[in-house]
Amino acid sequence: LTVRASSYADELVKTAKAIASPGRGILAMDESNATCGKRLDSIGLENTEANRQAYRTLLVSAPGLGNYISGAILFEETLYQSTTEGKKMVDVLVEQNIVPGIKVDKGLVPLPGSNNESWCQGLDGLSSRTAAYYQQGARFAKWRTVVSIPNGPSALAVKEAAWGLARYAAISQDSGLVPIVEPEILLDGDHGIDRTFEVAQKVWAEVFFYLAENNVLFEGILLKPSMVTPGAECKDKATPQQVADYTLKLLHRRIPPAVPGIMFLSGGQSEVEATLNLNAMNQSPNPWHVSFSYARALQNTCLKTWGGRPENVKAAQDALLVRAKANSLAQLGKYTG
Ligand code: 13P
Repeated sequence: LTVRASSYADELVKTAKAIASPGRGILAMDESNATCGKRLDSIGLENTEANRQAYRTLLVSAPGLGNYISGAILFEETLYQSTTEGKKMVDVLVEQNIVPGIKVDKGLVPLPGSNNESWCQGLDGLSSRTAAYYQQGARFAKWRTVVSIPNGPSALAVKEAAWGLARYAAISQDSGLVPIVEPEILLDGDHGIDRTFEVAQKVWAEVFFYLAENNVLFEGILLKPSMVTPGAECKDKATPQQVADYTLKLLHRRIPPAVPGIMFLSGGQSEVEATLNLNAMNQSPNPWHVSFSYARALQNTCLKTWGGRPENVKAAQDALLVRAKANSLAQLGKYTG
């Protein structure tokens, strides 16, 4: 039996702890150019590098953001980009006491032999990319793969998702990057909350089996799960208390306490819903830091408020700070609406 000793072990543990610090969570701002294009289109802007730069400058330089946000996930373009004032985006984050992270997966493609499911690409050449990203200032990474309930999930799709995440996690740790392990169980479908719970148990069992097989250091990873909710088209809706009960039960059954942080995705929940659900999960002490890694649930109002107009930058930053602060309070279990 071998136990892998990454030369970065101490640093990985320190980085993970810094991100999983009380009252703080992650700002996911790593939309691919295609997804960022959709967001910009929704406010009538063209998907140009200049518009992406202007928007991301607004986000990273919101005053005091680091009081609520401990890490920011960037798309590769942003990791190498400067703000509109000519400062490295990465430097602005570090000055705000926010750890820069990087999305390293190469997106989803159809998985032949499955039930119209997908798998996540990006392992080829990953170790050279993670080494370069570390040089550029990134200290954590994200790999998002998905599992679809209406399309299965097939045993093949779950195994592929879990194995890919584990290989990515081992490679990232070898380069000094804390891997965020994200098997997103998509909200789509009309299934009830019990079915989501059943699938989530299966997915997380396999993910941890392969993480262990790949000798990943559990103290140096972060998780990004979906909350356990009914499918988006299910006629029964769940209260924050129900979501919290199911989700915490899942975590207790499947996630070792060695893992420092559980950073939930918002997955299409409204801004307030995502905050209320997180708050409900933090009403009593948990073995892990239970927090957020939201994209849409932090950015939606901010993006709309900005609308691409320079005179709205301040108001848009204020809108971002309102959501960041609300989720910070929810991480502490103190959000009151
Ligand atoms: P949402 O919070 O919008 O689901 O995005 C989080 C994310 O980064 C998904 O990978």
